[in-house]
Amino acid sequence: MKHIGIVGAGTMGAGIAQAAALAELEVTLYDINTTVLRQSTEKIRTELKQGIQKGKIPPEKLDPTLERIKPRTSLSDLSSCDLILEAVIEDLRVKRDLFKRIEENAKSEALLASNTSSLSITAIASSLHRPGRFLGIHFFNPANIMKLVEVVRGRQTSDEVVGQGAAFAKKLGKTPVVVKDTPGFIVNRLARPFYGEALRLLGEHVATVEQIDRIVKTSGDFAMGPFELMDLIGIDINLAVTQSIYDQYFGEPRFRPHPLQQEMVDAGWLGRKSGRGFYNYSESKNQQASGTRKPT
Ligand SMILES: NC(=O)c1ccc[n+]([C@@H]2O[C@H](COP(=O)([O-])OP(=O)(O)OC[C@H]3O[C@@H](n4cnc5c(N)ncnc54)[C@H](O)[C@@H]3O)[C@@H](O)[C@H]2O)c1
Repeated sequence: MKHIGIVGAGTMGAGIAQAAALAELEVTLYDINTTVLRQSTEKIRTELKQGIQKGKIPPEKLDPTLERIKPRTSLSDLSSCDLILEAVIEDLRVKRDLFKRIEENAKSEALLASNTSSLSITAIASSLHRPGRFLGIHFFNPANIMKLVEVVRGRQTSDEVVGQGAAFAKKLGKTPVVVKDTPGFIVNRLARPFYGEALRLLGEHVATVEQIDRIVKTSGDFAMGPFELMDLIGIDINLAVTQSIYDQYFGEPRFRPHPLQQEMVDAGWLGRKSGRGFYNYSESKNQQASGTRKPT
């Protein structure tokens, strides 16, 4: 595998592009939004420079890594990719329609994959002529740092394709785990009560955002509290994932979204990416990068 295509250059697409280019793969980064493509390329440059400053990336890797990433706005530019990984919004209909067009533009032996957090790989594959070559490759946020990758085997995914998906994750220095195609797979299903109970505590005025985050970190030794994590993930994406798991379990109350999530999305307070979520990141760019922020 030498050349990969990434469809969707948002939070996850940019992180995966960075990890793949650092692993010396050629990357075509596709998005419908040229502003997002420009911002993602800038974000990758900034993060690589931070990696160099911290001594984690050799300085001579900066230019070749950036040169390997080609931002594009036409799906036909993905025709020579060995793997095309989709990371657009968490919406089954959007992903299905998009994969129809991706398959038309891909070479026949290409692997097609979704970074979906919760949707059925088998259901997305239903729009494809070659569902055996389709799988889930689920990275975690930030994708350039987090080691775990869930490799999701759909009903029709071939064994060979599962092996190739796991090999791709390893090539990026990740730890792949092959999982069943169930709503939310392992990690996102396990994480639903973490966010859900935090939102209920907040909604019932039992504790503040800051108190809940602080308690989880100091007593539970978590790296981040639930509200910091929702801000990092994107509150819109987190709501879509919760809604998707809830729907796929036919309205199982354990997975029900909280009205506060919808309210935040309606207000456009999506977390770090919009400058405001459960915390306010808009005071200065430096504060945003370092995660310093005030509660909203
Ligand atoms: N954010 C997370 O923490 C996280 C973690 C793991 C997996 N995921 C999954 O990854 C996927 C992407 O999430 P994200 O957080 O990067 O979203 P995001 O909102 O940051 O980015 C989505 C990008 O997709 C683009 N897009 C939308 N429709 C498109 C289309 N039809 N064609 C091309 N581009 C299109 C948008 O312009 C945007 O740049 C979702 O399926 C999500 O569930 C997210």
